[in-house]
Amino acid sequence: MSQIAILCSGGDVSGMNPALKRFVEYSFEKGLIPYFVQGGYEGLIDNLIVKASYNDVTGIIHRGGTKIYSARSKRFMQKKHRNTAAMNLKAQGIDKLVVLGGDGSFRGMDVFFKEQAISFCGIPATIDNDINGTQYCLGVDTALNVIKVATDNIRDTASSFKRAFVIEVMGNDCGYLALVSALTSGAEMCLIPEIQYDLEKLKIRYLKEVEQGRNYFIAIVAEGLANAKEIAQWFEDEIGFESRVTTLGHIQRGGNPTVKERLMAYQFCTYAIDSLLSGKSNSVICYNNGKFDFKEIYEINSKKYEIDKSLVSLGKSLLSK
Ligand code: F6P
Repeated sequence: MSQIAILCSGGDVSGMNPALKRFVEYSFEKGLIPYFVQGGYEGLIDNLIVKASYNDVTGIIHRGGTKIYSARSKRFMQKKHRNTAAMNLKAQGIDKLVVLGGDGSFRGMDVFFKEQAISFCGIPATIDNDINGTQYCLGVDTALNVIKVATDNIRDTASSFKRAFVIEVMGNDCGYLALVSALTSGAEMCLIPEIQYDLEKLKIRYLKEVEQGRNYFIAIVAEGLANAKEIAQWFEDEIGFESRVTTLGHIQRGGNPTVKERLMAYQFCTYAIDSLLSGKSNSVICYNNGKFDFKEIYEINSKKYEIDKSLVSLGKSLLSK
C-alpha cells in the first residue's frame, strides 16, 4: 500500500477541516494509507507526521480552522531544514503530499519538489483569493459570508445613528474580499489596492446624494491600503458625517464552513488525490468557470494574480473609477 500525507500551511481557512475529512475517507477508498502532518512545514521538519484514521475526522466537518494546525514556516526556506523534512517523509515511506495553502506555501513546495522529488498536489486555500491561475480558493465563501453578516449588522447601527462606517476587511494586498463584499452588501464605497481611487469624484456624488436624503454610508476598504482611519476622517471633514471604523480582523478567518465551502473542499481534495494517483507530481488544483483542472506549480507561481475585471466593472461607481 502507498502512503499519502496532508498538511495545512499559512493562514487557516474554514474548509480545511472538511478537506481533511475527505482526505482520510477518499485515501482509504483508494487503498492509500493517510497521514497528517501537524503544523504545516514546521511539522514536516519536526517529524510531527502521524497516521490518520476515520476516527480523527469525525465531528469536524462543521468546524472552522484546521484540526492538524497550520503555521508559516521560516525554517522551510532553508535547505538544511527541507532536507530534514524530506528525510522524515521518506522514513515513513510517504511519497505523496497534499498541501493546503496560499501562494507562499506553493512557492516553498515548488523548491521542495525540485530538490527532493516528492510528489505533491496543492489545494489553493486562502481567504485572500489571491492565487494566480484559480478563480476560487478554499475559505473565500465562508469569509465572505462572515463579512456579509458583520456588514448587515453595522448597517443597522449606521442607519440608526446617521453615521458613516468604514469597514476594513482582510485580503492582504488583494481587494477581492472587499470588492465582492461591497457589491453584495450595498456599500456606497469600496477602496482596493488594485484600483486608484478618486475621493473628489466620490465627494461630488455623495454630497448630491445627501442633498437627496441619504443619511448614512457604508464604506468597505481593503486592509492592504491601511487607510481606514484616514477615510473615516474624510467622511467627517468633507461629507459632514460622524464616522466610525470597524476592523473585522480574524473573525473573517473562522466560523462554520458554508455549504459551498464544504462541497468545494470535498471536490478539491478528491481531485488532488486523483492527480497524485494519476502520476502528476507537481500540480495545483484550480477552479475556473465552474470546472476543476490541474496546473503545474510553475504556472501558478509565474505570475501575480489579477483581480477579476468583470467585478471591477460591476463595482465601477463604488471604486470611483
Ligand atoms: O490568511 C490570510 C490573511 O488572513 C490575510 O488576509 C491577512 O493579511 C493575514 O493573513 C493575517 O495574518 P496573521 O494571521 O498572521 O496575522
